[in-house]
Amino acid sequence: MKADLLITGISQLVTAEGVGPKHGRAMRELKIVEQAAIAMSAGAVVWTGGESEWKGETEAIVNAGGRAVVPGLIDPHTHAVWAGDRLADFEARTSGSTYEEILAAGGGIRSTIRATAAASQDALLSLAKPRIDSLIASGATTIEVKSGYGFTPAAELTMLEAIQSLSAISPSRIVPTLLIHVPPAIATERSDYMSRVCEELIPEVGRRNLATAVDIFVEKEAWQIAEAEELFHRAKQYGLAIKLHSDQFHCIGGLELGIRFGALSVDHLEASGPEQIVKIAASSTIATILPGVSLHLGIPSAPGRKLIDAGAAVAVGTDLNPGSSPLFSASTALAFSVRLNGLTVEEALVAGTVNAGCALGIRNAGRLEAGCAADFLVLHSSDWRDLVYTLGANPVREVWIGGEKVK
Ligand code: NIG
Ligand code: FE
Repeated sequence: MKADLLITGISQLVTAEGVGPKHGRAMRELKIVEQAAIAMSAGAVVWTGGESEWKGETEAIVNAGGRAVVPGLIDPHTHAVWAGDRLADFEARTSGSTYEEILAAGGGIRSTIRATAAASQDALLSLAKPRIDSLIASGATTIEVKSGYGFTPAAELTMLEAIQSLSAISPSRIVPTLLIHVPPAIATERSDYMSRVCEELIPEVGRRNLATAVDIFVEKEAWQIAEAEELFHRAKQYGLAIKLHSDQFHCIGGLELGIRFGALSVDHLEASGPEQIVKIAASSTIATILPGVSLHLGIPSAPGRKLIDAGAAVAVGTDLNPGSSPLFSASTALAFSVRLNGLTVEEALVAGTVNAGCALGIRNAGRLEAGCAADFLVLHSSDWRDLVYTLGANPVREVWIGGEKVK
């Protein structure tokens, strides 16, 4: 066997095995090889195993210095493109106002929409680039980025074009999603707006390949079930996958609708109860949980432990956004999922790699096996569990994407 590069000196090489999603107890099954090596060629893994078992030829060797190696993290849920800030909301919430009250009064997401829609594409790109760099430094090698702060079809397209430019200049793999975030503030304008989304925006996004999925925020203060259903029919016609923000504050049927439409993922689930847990566990839809939101807003944590015990495939994301989760670290999101959602360290790694890939429709990612992309992290520690143990310092020493060291 021939390789471009062989990484030796790996104290522990840790990975899930086989394509995802991993449901229930399979989320705890990891392969750990000690004193390992990994060989790669043309950006892909060609061999992994014990260092002494390597019998091939390689053009170069890099020694990891006795450190642990894990697959690159996949952040399946971010809103990394925005303008303005939400510091006033943050302060108002410390004096007792709630996120939903601020939104209902025309602030919150709507204030970010005003600032974002007024920004140029170049300005959005320069604001987003350091956020993506921060996620990469924390271990994210694939990052989903949503639109949703544009509101008008033109401003949503500008956001998606900014995401496309981000993808061109960033070493990370970027997966774009069209998010239909909040309805017009005036109730009588909702159906016209929905028509523009379905007749203008989705067809344009589909034709220009500007997103792989359509997401919608289903909530009392946002979109209702019939509206989401109309959107999903249209998304399907254009070959776009489906995702939802659902059950964040109230269960109004978004999770059930998502499952019915074969959504890739239903995200949030802080308010999901036993009925929702059973339904998503029996489906092929990924349950994406976002612990940064519970921490920042002080709302209940999504029932991660119960979801996995019921057999669901759980993924974890940062939900990086200015209002509900200013969390710029994918590894910290996993660390929080252990503390707030009751995941084990093994489950957290699977939730942030293989299952997160599946939440983006990428089933053959987030693992270190022959044939997978050579996206991996060298930790500072010789023990991989440090990835989800450390808080406030970065446990990630090196980030490799497609066989290239980017950090
Ligand atoms: O995932 N809940 C809706 N959307 C985002 C928050 C966006 C914002 O507050 O700006 C979320 O929490
Ligand atoms: Fe979100």
